[in-house]
Amino acid sequence: MEKNRKIVGLCGSLRKGSYNAMLLKVAGGLIPEGIEFEIVAYDDIPVYNADHDLPETEERPASVTKFRESLADADAFIIASPEYNYSIPGGLKNAIDWASRGKDSPLMHKPVAVMGATQGMWGTVRMQMAFLPVFTFLNMNPVLQPEVLIAQAQNKFDADGNLNDEKTISIIQKKIENLISACKV
Ligand SMILES: Cc1cc2nc3c(=O)[nH]c(=O)nc-3n(C[C@H](O)[C@H](O)[C@H](O)COP(=O)(O)O)c2cc1C
Repeated sequence: MEKNRKIVGLCGSLRKGSYNAMLLKVAGGLIPEGIEFEIVAYDDIPVYNADHDLPETEERPASVTKFRESLADADAFIIASPEYNYSIPGGLKNAIDWASRGKDSPLMHKPVAVMGATQGMWGTVRMQMAFLPVFTFLNMNPVLQPEVLIAQAQNKFDADGNLNDEKTISIIQKKIENLISACKV
């Protein structure tokens, strides 16, 4: 039987009321029926330590093993993240580092779409650029176009997390279409 396709979402912000959590939810709502979507949390995993990351024996902290397993059956990823200090938030990068190691890395070779929301003016462009070398090393397939750069997010999302900007919604929709087209299955 053919496996149902699955997209996993990762959010770069852990705070309640995060605009990127709202964005990820909006993106999930635009994924066509028949494709599973799951947002995977990583807030319980420790700071990366290679002494506790033993790919050969698959010995890792239990929270990391669970995190990697949650990514394993993903056909593609959506990352919605703020920009922290012009770059990738440390917690998200740490989670990606844990998922990146070993021949069984659940990230390798898979398509990924990055999008971001900020209360500032630059729409997370520097965070998105910072991901490019990471994806290169992981041999991932970043779906670069169209760019989802949401500036002044506080004026675009309402208190219930709705995105009140038709143009942005259509850009997210197109990005998801391109991500699905990049899936091998
Ligand atoms: C540690 C830190 C660094 C930040 N650095 C940037 C930055 O470089 N560029 C930017 O546009 N916003 C920056 N911000 C502001 C965030 O974009 C803003 O707080 C955004 O709402 C966070 O996303 P969230 O709503 O999903 O939590 C920073 C915020 C924090 C907490």
